[in-house]
Amino acid sequence: MFFFKKNESWKISENEVTSEEKFLNRRAILKPLLSFTISPFLISFPSYKSHSGVGYSFTSKINKKYIIDRKITEERFATTYTNFYEFGSSKNIWRRAGKLVTNPWLIEIDGLVKKPKKYDIRDFIRVLGGEEERVYRFRCVEAWSMTVPWMGISFQKLLSLVEPKKDAKFVRFETFFNPDVAPGQKQKWYPWPYTEGISIEEAKNDLTFLATGIYGKNLPNQNGSPIRLILPWKYGFKSIKSIVKISFVKDRPIGLWEKLAPQEYGFWANVNPNIPHPRWSQEYEKILGSTKTRKTLIFNGYEREVSYLYKSLFQKNKSILFR
Ligand code: MTE
Repeated sequence: MFFFKKNESWKISENEVTSEEKFLNRRAILKPLLSFTISPFLISFPSYKSHSGVGYSFTSKINKKYIIDRKITEERFATTYTNFYEFGSSKNIWRRAGKLVTNPWLIEIDGLVKKPKKYDIRDFIRVLGGEEERVYRFRCVEAWSMTVPWMGISFQKLLSLVEPKKDAKFVRFETFFNPDVAPGQKQKWYPWPYTEGISIEEAKNDLTFLATGIYGKNLPNQNGSPIRLILPWKYGFKSIKSIVKISFVKDRPIGLWEKLAPQEYGFWANVNPNIPHPRWSQEYEKILGSTKTRKTLIFNGYEREVSYLYKSLFQKNKSILFR
């Protein structure tokens, strides 16, 4: 694990925040791994106009604990500017993701639990007591952010259902693997399927959420249908989409991005404006659907809810908090 010296001269300006090649080129991390050249991966933010008023009304199942004082991102932005590398490395994959068949969908819970089981997604939601709605901040490691209403289920409910054993120290999540519908999975330099992991303590935190919907509707494929993880205090890459398996394990899992570039995308990946990514600052974020930027908050504004999780780790090794 290493850190780059913070660039004090990095001062926010609209131009810098939107100059994508500064920090959005994830493919750059792949270059050393490849024996051939990939043409630069160009991402541009669509020229959004700022908007006023979103007109979204919450469902009756809104969890009031998680209402926040941020404007909700317009649905059209959150659902058309998406990261889903299974369908390609551009943000504009939403049409392509439509090919994924999400009904039927099986989700398997296995590993160190007393009650392992495979569920059809609809049964799964039903046995977990149905969905609630939560509005969360969402901060991508690429320095853009959004605020969206997710429908879904508290992870705590899953813990009660499957009863993890004492030696379950981590939870590992896995996305589907089907290169016939997901062309990105034909790119063999990625360690497919996409996997991610969290500690069992993080899994028990009240914020940890399995999302099945967004803006009061089922999740569109591009946002991770039919079920995905949401960890609002961590960088977005931890929030794995289209989950087929959740395993309770003894050893710390290594996710797709950590396998590819551990110095850039570590296990903990907690949002922290004070620790720059090796190739860009994390001090500010571009608000999706707006021309505005804002200062990034420690733990993405959820310090009160999650900082206890990292106290002992932090004492042992200060760097562990961040990557
Ligand atoms: N999950 C899978 N399976 N594949 C992915 O490429 N991208 C991650 C995360 N989950 C990704 C994934 C990244 S980098 C981010 S920022 C978020 O999904 C984006 O979620 P959104 O597209 O719904 O905004």
